[in-house]
Amino acid sequence: MEKEQNTQMSFYYKDGYLYCEKLRVKDIQEQVSYSPFYLYSFAQLEQNYAAYQNALSGINAIIGYAVKANNNLTLLKRLNELGSGAVLVSGNELKLSLAAGFDLKRTILNGNGKTLEELSLAVEHEVLINIDSEFDLRHIQQTAKQLDIPANVLIRINPDVDPEVHPYVSTGMKNSKFGIRNERLNWFLDEIRKDDLLTLVGVHCHLGSTIKKVRIFRDATEIMLDFIRSIQAEGFSAQYLNIGGGLGIDYERTGEDIPTPKDLIDSIRGLLTDDITLIIEPGRSIIGNTAVFVNRVTGVKTNGNKHFIVTDGSMAELIRPSLYDTYQHIEFIEPVDGKVDTFDVVGPVCESADFLGKERELPTPPEGTGLVVCDAGAYCHTMSSNYNLKMSPPEYLVDGDKLTCIRRVETLDDYMRVFDV
Ligand SMILES: Cc1ncc(COP(=O)(O)O)c(C=O)c1O
Repeated sequence: MEKEQNTQMSFYYKDGYLYCEKLRVKDIQEQVSYSPFYLYSFAQLEQNYAAYQNALSGINAIIGYAVKANNNLTLLKRLNELGSGAVLVSGNELKLSLAAGFDLKRTILNGNGKTLEELSLAVEHEVLINIDSEFDLRHIQQTAKQLDIPANVLIRINPDVDPEVHPYVSTGMKNSKFGIRNERLNWFLDEIRKDDLLTLVGVHCHLGSTIKKVRIFRDATEIMLDFIRSIQAEGFSAQYLNIGGGLGIDYERTGEDIPTPKDLIDSIRGLLTDDITLIIEPGRSIIGNTAVFVNRVTGVKTNGNKHFIVTDGSMAELIRPSLYDTYQHIEFIEPVDGKVDTFDVVGPVCESADFLGKERELPTPPEGTGLVVCDAGAYCHTMSSNYNLKMSPPEYLVDGDKLTCIRRVETLDDYMRVFDV
């Protein structure tokens, strides 16, 4: 049977040219005055969201899109229109979600270092708040008291299930910087019980990101349900089971069987009871494959026995390969018939860690050729920087045959304004 994901042709090749929905990416590149840029497909976003919605049919659930994965305001508005909630990790993400129209009562604030200002915003807007530590609970209590506004809280637990991913994106092990020490659970329950303004509504965990085995989610769900039952036995009516985000996507394109949202939800469906509302917090699996990062080849060079394709995009605009040593597929957007060689695809940033891909078999491209880094929707633009004074790149959205600029390029004038002190 056909898998639910990727059934729609959002990015595909025709006559040697890459298309995004009905538009040829080369035509877009010629039309867009700045390079590099990010290019998104709305059809792919809709399809990814629908995959979660369909997977969750018959279950009381909130899909909380993890804003940290991609915070473009237009994309957030579209996700809100599709019915998504939002998962936040900062006060600014809260404010942006408000601007995007999200119902903040269906949003969750995560974080191991929430400030008092961020907590005030969350309490005022009735955001669900995850308690991460003893001091975090104290700060939430202090904030609710000061504002005299009640707060609904969840406790972030570490189920200590190995997500089998890069250590930088592993977050639910017992030595993680996130969540409480589980042995202290009763202390947290006592503190919450004593506080008239706090209501414990559930438990939260987030195992990590790029997870490719649903067994991992199932193991964690079983553990988390045990926690919920023991919390309920203590007299709390905790209803929310938040299992975080983390489902991986097919970056490598090796034909590996990557679980779909349906596979994930089906693996835990039988564990859930009617008194539980499931919260999931997907980021990457909703937004990751909706975009490509479009570059131009600046030149080709050889040093020692290494061949390099040098592009105008770099680790400043897309840092995942440099930061996590991860693979993102690289392709040309147009026919190239030069000699095939093994290349490192590198940017212009003055840093040997600046690469978009290593050891790629590609035909030698002429200067100016369009090149894309695939699956660039999640943790790419949001993690971009101004290193080497590279400017934050623009973003474009394709919807059918319509192209819209959804973020203009940052200019040096924008940047210079921060020095107006
Ligand atoms: C608490 C929390 N929830 C959800 C997510 C989203 O994860 P992903 O993008 O892998 O689905 C993250 C990302 O690390 C997170 O830290």
